[in-house]
Amino acid sequence: MRIWLIAIGILAVIGLGLALYFLKPVNGPARDLTLVGDATRGAYLLVLGDCVACHTDAKAGKAPFSGGPALRTPFGSFFAPNITPDPDHGIGGWTLADFSRALSDGEGPGFMNHLYPAFPYDSYTLMSDEEIADLYAALMALEPIAEPSIAHEVGFPFNVRPILAGWKNLFFTPKRFAPDPARSKLWNRGKYLVEGPAHCVSCHTPRNALGGPDTSHPLAGSSGGPAGNVPGITSERLVAEGYDKAMLIEALTTGFTPGFDILGGAMGEVIENSTAKWTDEDLQAVAEYLLGEE
Ligand code: HEC
Ligand code: HEC
Repeated sequence: MRIWLIAIGILAVIGLGLALYFLKPVNGPARDLTLVGDATRGAYLLVLGDCVACHTDAKAGKAPFSGGPALRTPFGSFFAPNITPDPDHGIGGWTLADFSRALSDGEGPGFMNHLYPAFPYDSYTLMSDEEIADLYAALMALEPIAEPSIAHEVGFPFNVRPILAGWKNLFFTPKRFAPDPARSKLWNRGKYLVEGPAHCVSCHTPRNALGGPDTSHPLAGSSGGPAGNVPGITSERLVAEGYDKAMLIEALTTGFTPGFDILGGAMGEVIENSTAKWTDEDLQAVAEYLLGEE
């Protein structure tokens, strides 16, 4: 009897310890929230981040950023909400602090209101304080659209937001981008775009059974997520497919591949909404990072 009580006591302590560990808040470095963003610079960041893709149901003819179509994952379907400045249905009531916390720490306003990683905040967290303020200014300058957001279709236990803290404690490290001083400015810009705002990693890096990125195989290709079958874009694979830097830039601006294919599906949307509208320098930076330094 006594030995059982002791065993139960020990298990309870371990359980409580684990619960406290997995429920602990996940906060990155504090942001400068006194910055006043620039909506014009922010508009280009909306393009780099391809925010419009998930947050707009273009096929249903809905207004940009007024809420997106289902993103199907093994955990259920997610609907990116309305992020226009409508006070009731969008983020019109959000302060820069609220916005910054969502993009940097994956947490919405309120208590333990953890956000689903279907929103690639694990990439956006790398952005600078100034860029977050610019993005906020750009969204707040949009026309407010009174379109209600759609509730996610996820079953128990994934519909209990506080337990997302467990996922975040396992797989998410909020942090800012740290350039590698041994590499060129262009290469670092490319790495920053791929891992940060352009979140190429979120589709092209495989995920484990819990939906965490398999960081030991970066950009090795993925399947099972909302984007379907995503090929690898490691330099070995790109070279084997016949890409050089100019051809990669061609593919990212027109969709034409060296194998005379046209990129479609989720990548077609990335190209149309995002990479085709990038500056030449940003395209060159990504080519430099993915295909090696000159
Ligand atoms: C891959 C799809 C995807 C992309 C790209 C994306 N989002 Fe989202 N976003 C989501 C989803 C899904 C949610 C809902 C998360 C949740 O409810 O936990 C979300 C939530 C948000 C929220 C919180 C809104 C709320 O009402 O809770 C903000 C703010 C936001 N996104 C801004 C952005 C910005 C800015 C960008 C571009 C830099 C962006 N998103 C790009 C999918 C995406
Ligand atoms: C929303 C998910 C998604 C994002 C984000 C994304 N990709 Fe893709 N990518 C795909 C899919 C899906 C394909 C396959 C398209 C096809 O076969 O038509 C693809 C294909 C490609 C290809 C062609 C590879 C080949 O074998 O010919 C390249 C190159 C590529 N992506 C680069 C990028 C870069 C660079 C970024 C970041 C700027 C990026 N992708 C972001 C989903 C994505």
